Amino acid sequence: MSKTPCFVANWKMNKTISEAERYFRDFEKGWLRHNLPIEAVLAPPFTALASVSRLMKHASLEITGLSAQNVHFESSGAFTGEISSEMLFEMGCRYVIIGHSERRHLFGESDEVIQQKIGAARKAGLLPILCIGETLKERRAGKTWAVLERQLSVALENGRLGDGGMGNLSDWMIAYEPVWAIGTGETPLPDETSEIHRKVQSFVSDRLQKGLPRVLYGGSVSEKNIASFMKQAFIDGVLVGGASLSADSFLKIIELGAMSKHASRVK
Ligand code: PGA
Repeated sequence: MSKTPCFVANWKMNKTISEAERYFRDFEKGWLRHNLPIEAVLAPPFTALASVSRLMKHASLEITGLSAQNVHFESSGAFTGEISSEMLFEMGCRYVIIGHSERRHLFGESDEVIQQKIGAARKAGLLPILCIGETLKERRAGKTWAVLERQLSVALENGRLGDGGMGNLSDWMIAYEPVWAIGTGETPLPDETSEIHRKVQSFVSDRLQKGLPRVLYGGSVSEKNIASFMKQAFIDGVLVGGASLSADSFLKIIELGAMSKHASRVK
């Protein structure tokens, strides 16, 4: 069965509540009325989650989901400034981005912390969007797969052994985001990316045999390059940062990406 292509908008630390609400209204107005199966997920900052969640509930876009950008691994306690999975779930989040490279590199999150976050998210009923990716230095040293393999195996271990269990992995997403491609305008070649995604899928299915997650690509996705990524067999969707900040541009990416995936499947 082919997987529903997914388009995730990661707004990072952008948009106040009123800006987020305006975006959502524009997004709803511009929503393409076609029959192609797709899922669109918005990941606003914490402060705008409640308002976007409310708007989503009353909107006509049933295929749109809400995601947080980060979460703490404990469910409550003396952790000033942190937010738990239970809080996000209650707010209407279905997904949570875990292990984004900005969390790993700017805030020092280790593979072990990411493992704990995945366990906590699963326990509370959230679906992880797990980000993995190599730095330019690692890539140049020929270590791309070794790095991805380490990030995956540590991240997934806790889910297998932990209280929450992994659930069915086909509900999860794994985003391959080379660190050097994020916000730089540079991207890996689409066919090379698809091959990495194939390896990610077979790594997961060999180890866990619990359904296949969708594997998304992230890093400088734009209206210009979306079609070339989405036509690849193992690219199930994209995680978009900068180009998702305007509703028009994100809608265009969804439209071009959905058409490209559809065309590649009926060929
Ligand atoms: P970008 O960010 O699209 O701006 O490169 C992607 C991401 O960080 O998820």
